[in-house]
Amino acid sequence: MTNATSQFSDMRTIYLETFGCQMNELDSELVQDQLTALGYTFQGERATADVVLFNTCSVREQAENKVLSRIGELGVEKIEGREVVIGMLGCLPEREGKKLLGTYPQLDFICGPSELDHLPTMLHNAVAGERLSAVERSALQGNRSRRSAALTAADDNLELLDLARAFNPDHRRSSGKSAYVRITRGCNKFCTYCVVPNTRGAEVHRPPCAIVEECRVLVETGAVEITLLGQTVNHYRYTHDIALNSEGREVPQIGPGLTAFKKPLDSTQRTTTFANLLKRIHDEVPNLLRLRFVTSYPIDFGNDILEVMRDCPRICNYLHVPAQSGSNRILKLMNRGYTVEEYLEFIERARTIIPEVEIAGDIIVGFPTETEEDFEATCDLIRKVQFKNNFVFHYSPRPGTVAIDRFEDDVPRENKRRWLNSILELGAEISGDVHKLYEGKTVEVFVERLSPKETKKAGIELMWESGKVQLSGRTQGDLICVFDVDSKEEANMLMGCVVPVKITSSAPLLLQGTLQTSLLVK
Ligand code: SAH
Ligand code: SF4
Ligand code: F3S
Repeated sequence: MTNATSQFSDMRTIYLETFGCQMNELDSELVQDQLTALGYTFQGERATADVVLFNTCSVREQAENKVLSRIGELGVEKIEGREVVIGMLGCLPEREGKKLLGTYPQLDFICGPSELDHLPTMLHNAVAGERLSAVERSALQGNRSRRSAALTAADDNLELLDLARAFNPDHRRSSGKSAYVRITRGCNKFCTYCVVPNTRGAEVHRPPCAIVEECRVLVETGAVEITLLGQTVNHYRYTHDIALNSEGREVPQIGPGLTAFKKPLDSTQRTTTFANLLKRIHDEVPNLLRLRFVTSYPIDFGNDILEVMRDCPRICNYLHVPAQSGSNRILKLMNRGYTVEEYLEFIERARTIIPEVEIAGDIIVGFPTETEEDFEATCDLIRKVQFKNNFVFHYSPRPGTVAIDRFEDDVPRENKRRWLNSILELGAEISGDVHKLYEGKTVEVFVERLSPKETKKAGIELMWESGKVQLSGRTQGDLICVFDVDSKEEANMLMGCVVPVKITSSAPLLLQGTLQTSLLVK
């Protein structure tokens, strides 16, 4: 047992449940690495763990309710005598802050995304039984979401947390084939319905050399696909000083903000745009087979980015670029900052430069004052764009947002439900057309898993032949594709590889094809 481990009591098994977006999934991964290195072990049973952690999401009420009901259940167990430490991480404590500790006395500590670097200490204190009163605890735990605004990412301990993952030997042993890499924290947009700028703070961009290095190490340790994360990922921009030698040449950096010489002779500034960053990762990490990014914002998306996507074969032809609504009136109330026409102009530009690009998005139905006419306008937009899919949400009023103060949540529940179902139906129809276009083509598929039996529900006749094993993966455009191989051994061999598959049939949710063995690179 190491010193780091022995200072903790014997409460060392942790159950961690994650809600919300990819940012939270990544944070949970970082938390797991950080705490594993300190001697904690993670397990899949909430009922028997010494410590229960929830990494929460606050974007819709439903997401919060799920966690709060779990906390309620654990509260009862605690009253009945179970010894368990309960910690709440993520966006809900960042939004609600100190109040939570008073309302839920069973909670031992809270830790927002901006405090994750302090998590080991908070957990240690809780495990060591330093139970503070709610008032004392709340005095220690601030709502520091906007602290990062004053710091450059390189100065911030959160940067070290991101970086630590790639260099953590525990992570190396368990790392998967698909990895997230954060490039930007926070958001500066203030869409009126959205809680994220409150929970994740102002936009802070990570230094490009740290991002490229992280990608390089992740690929060296087995990652095949990397997805860059940011709330408005195309806004990435990093300006930094570069040191020049006596001949005016750049002095190489040895780390974020550090050059090989103490005193460079001269310096100048360099700006890395999102397009530059994509190109750098593509070129400097040649063994990375797939590079993706989410989420894109439909304005401020220059042709430079689209051209890099077109010219770099390992950058996926895929954009997740939420429209949210197809009504200009509603877009204005949402403060999205673009019109339907501007959104469509962007899509046309993207399709002209990258004809094979697939577009996915998000739609909110039932925003305050939304009418049948607004809803029809959204359906029109969906038809025009031919999205591969949309994530569709009921509007949910969120405390701390502009919309909750300014507008009444006046759309009847029944309309929200009907509109959501209609959009899903329309979406499935369009998705069917999108998938059909692939029939007869050969696509590259990144093999992810054995095909789940659920694929049968997608309405496709899966021709199970005896002895065959079905694999499932994704195309560059993020379409699910299944194909058969002869044996479990072959399936294992192909897992995590990118392989050519000729599409023979399609359905709204997936493609089916045959492996083009003759095209496989040995
Ligand atoms: N940064 C991303 C979205 C992050 S939140 C972007 O701007 O595209 C993910 C999605 O949740 C949003 O795209 C939106 O569709 C949905 N969402 C956010 N707040 C919501 C709310 N209050 N009610 C319903 N859906 C919401
Ligand atoms: Fe929320 Fe808008 Fe920022 Fe997306 S861009 S995270 S919807 S405020
Ligand atoms: Fe939810 Fe926070 Fe992500 S509110 S959507 S987990 S940034």
